[in-house]
Amino acid sequence: MDEYSKKVMALFKNPKNMGEVKNADGAGEAGNPVCGDVMRITIKVKDGRLADIKFKTMGCVAAIASSSMITELAKGKTIQEAMDITNMDVAKELGGLPNIKMHCSKLAADALRLAINDYQKRKKR
Ligand code: FES
Repeated sequence: MDEYSKKVMALFKNPKNMGEVKNADGAGEAGNPVCGDVMRITIKVKDGRLADIKFKTMGCVAAIASSSMITELAKGKTIQEAMDITNMDVAKELGGLPNIKMHCSKLAADALRLAINDYQKRKKR
């Protein structure tokens, strides 16, 4: 496919969970040097679950829709379940992404994983 799905456009116009979690337990940032897009995800963990998750994205339509979708998929999940969310899951839930926009969903999956890694590192300290 080479066009954006309705879901992508809807989330781009009305993204969910935008912003920054207050007193976050973990933060992750992922960027793509080719397109220059950057994504930041912050999480709050309670009883082993992602109690809150928000994103800040400077990027394309697909990057914003992917960020919004991954926060929706991850919210309320256990750490392990959230870790297992792949960019393919994100793309599927978005009703597909154009091939050249698949990396945008990967940015979202990477930022989430980095935020969880950060949380785990902080917990060990
Ligand atoms: Fe690079 Fe969308 S074009 S994240």
